[in-house]
Amino acid sequence: MRIILLGAPGAGKGTQAQFLMKTFGIPQISTGDMLRAAIKAGTELGQQAKAVMDAGKLVSDDIMIGLVKERIAQPDCQNGFLLDGFPRTIPQADAMQEAGIAVDVVLEFAVPDDVIVERMSGRRVHPGSGRVYHVKHNPPKTEGKDDVTGEDLIIRDDDKEETVRKRLAIYHEQTEPLVSYYRKLAEQGQTTFHKVDGTRNVETISKELGELLG
Ligand code: AP5
Ligand code: ZN
Repeated sequence: MRIILLGAPGAGKGTQAQFLMKTFGIPQISTGDMLRAAIKAGTELGQQAKAVMDAGKLVSDDIMIGLVKERIAQPDCQNGFLLDGFPRTIPQADAMQEAGIAVDVVLEFAVPDDVIVERMSGRRVHPGSGRVYHVKHNPPKTEGKDDVTGEDLIIRDDDKEETVRKRLAIYHEQTEPLVSYYRKLAEQGQTTFHKVDGTRNVETISKELGELLG
């Protein structure tokens, strides 16, 4: 199965990606995680991306399209994948269409901006795996530690309230138009589209996704 997760920063894409990966046995392609790994490794891409991400802006379409095409060509993506954070602009979606990369389902996670700002302030992440926690809504078993490895959790550099608000503005401007883009493709029978109420708790949303995708 090939899935696109669409939704604002903090809408819960990474959280539900963990559930979908386990349930359907497909890899998560998180472009944000890929960029953060490049920053950590100190690659040229990482050096370019850091300032852009810290400012809450988007990395250029050319770079992102190249990165994702290369990733999708890997053997572990042959039976499907879960795109988390890509496409994020109309040119990125067009590039997928032009490359003939069709997807079975697009899931839009709908969450109002004020809920998102609260969520981001409590987010903690395990950089090695991409596992995501929230100090109140989805706490780790041991405070500050990843459930699986016991390693330290961190706060993302772009989770400052001021940056979150910038990321939300860019989402509404550049990414939200993809909702009608994919609704139209679904009407033409080229994919399916589901809007998911992302304000409910993590388990309720996972249950709905499991039922929806069979
Ligand atoms: P990226 O890492 O993709 O960030 P994002 O899209 O802004 O999304 P987030 O990871 O912040 O949120 P999420 O939806 O995964 O929510 P999560 O599950 O963590 O991108 C980062 C940056 O990289 C971008 O700003 C850009 O610069 C660059 N970039 C990446 N892709 C790009 C592209 N294609 N083109 C150009 N630039 C690109 O949940 C958030 C919090 O809420 C957590 O604490 C979680 O525990 C909690 N939570 C989750 N679900 C619930 C729930 N149901 N109830 C209560 N709390 C919940
Ligand atoms: Zn994420």
